[in-house]
Amino acid sequence: MTNIISIQNIANHVGEEVTIKGWLYAKTGKGKIQFLRLRDGTGITQVVLFKPNLPPEVFQAGKRLSQESSIIVRGLVKENERAPGVPKGYEIEAADLEVVQIAEEYPITPKEHGIEFLLENRHLWIRSRKQWALLRLRATIMQALREWLNGQEFVEMSTPILTPAAGEGTSTLFEVEYFGDTIYLAQTGQLYNEANIYSFGKVYCFGPTFRAEKSKTRRHLTEFWMLEPEMAFCDLDGMMEIEEQMVSFMVQRCLEERAEELKVLERDTTMLEKVLAPFPRISYDDAMDKIKEIQANLTDPAQKKLLDITWGDDFGSPHETELTKLYNQPIFVYGFPTQCKAFYMEPWPNRPEVCKSVDLLAPEGYGEITGGSERISDPDLLLRRIHEENLPEEAFKWYLDLRRYGSVAHSGFGLGVERTVAWVAGVHHARETNPFPRMLGRVYP
Ligand code: 4AD
Ligand code: MG
Repeated sequence: MTNIISIQNIANHVGEEVTIKGWLYAKTGKGKIQFLRLRDGTGITQVVLFKPNLPPEVFQAGKRLSQESSIIVRGLVKENERAPGVPKGYEIEAADLEVVQIAEEYPITPKEHGIEFLLENRHLWIRSRKQWALLRLRATIMQALREWLNGQEFVEMSTPILTPAAGEGTSTLFEVEYFGDTIYLAQTGQLYNEANIYSFGKVYCFGPTFRAEKSKTRRHLTEFWMLEPEMAFCDLDGMMEIEEQMVSFMVQRCLEERAEELKVLERDTTMLEKVLAPFPRISYDDAMDKIKEIQANLTDPAQKKLLDITWGDDFGSPHETELTKLYNQPIFVYGFPTQCKAFYMEPWPNRPEVCKSVDLLAPEGYGEITGGSERISDPDLLLRRIHEENLPEEAFKWYLDLRRYGSVAHSGFGLGVERTVAWVAGVHHARETNPFPRMLGRVYP
């Protein structure tokens, strides 16, 4: 048997006879020649079946192949600059072809399909070139984020998904019946990480989180992955430095390692090349002034109305979009009104109506990709905030304990994976960036 290779490494095997195991993506040709497009999970390449070079039954087998049939191909790797593929410019001159299974008629064809049909067939749609590229990019994003944190002495901690208390407001909780009690799916791992820092200093959790989001938008899923770093002895400024370093590293890594996938996605990478720390920092108050100014200069009344906002409101996506248009980097917006943020955020010194919170907004209209804050470290203040928000004190007993034994200034943030992938990939809707997205009206497949 010849060397089994991955298509992504094909450039290293020019002139060698190799074996590739995969699936038929598409097929063209007539008469004496058949061109197969073979995908193996790592890439797509062209396989040439030339009748005079092959046993007749092998050429016949090639002609019978249907889309998505599983096959094993042996042949010579050649350079051919016109050969399509990922990577482009290589082909296999087949010497043998083994059919593992002839696939039944495949529902996803090269013609256009509607989004509902594609989502209903998500288990098959993930094989398509663009979806494949997106999900490979997602894996690299997740790995690069982990790698950066591990290199900075962060320790990965697993936090529970079954939780007795709300972390991020009570309006988006999924209830679970737990042996006669009502508990919730985790909206965040943060509160547990605030315990973990007192044992490990710098930690992160990385897993699925859940929000019963009742609105259908391009940014909201009901199950999404969140990376949540949390740091002891760290204030808001220190946290922004960590965020900008981590995000820059991740984006530059994607440009290096996923150039082929970004080409498949037709991503214009010039904006991504500019993602280098430090990022601009702008206060909520200044951001409000800028939004008001933009609004004043608009002539279309509908457009104008979209930007209506009063001090105290959180930004919606129209505000984030306008704001990020002013910069060609991701931007930090810090110092949001306390009333629009979670109960645990440290108040601004001498300005309790504002809290030490920060969102990172991605450029090109993608908006919020991270949200974080410095946390309240004083036990009495924290208890008061729990009461003000009508949260059940009993469920937060352990959380209050953290402020009793060596409490320190600490900060953390959460990065939403799906929104981050949408931005880096340049795709409109976050639903495509999760292999099996869950959102309002969809839990199948
Ligand atoms: O701003 P959020 O709600 O912050 C928290 O949950 C904090 N506890 C994180 C922390 O400080 N450790 O959510 C953080 C990020 C958002 O910026 C967004 O990227 C993503 O999570 N996110 C969602 N992504 C997809 N669908 C949703 N419904 C999302 N809700 C939040
Ligand atoms: Mg947020």
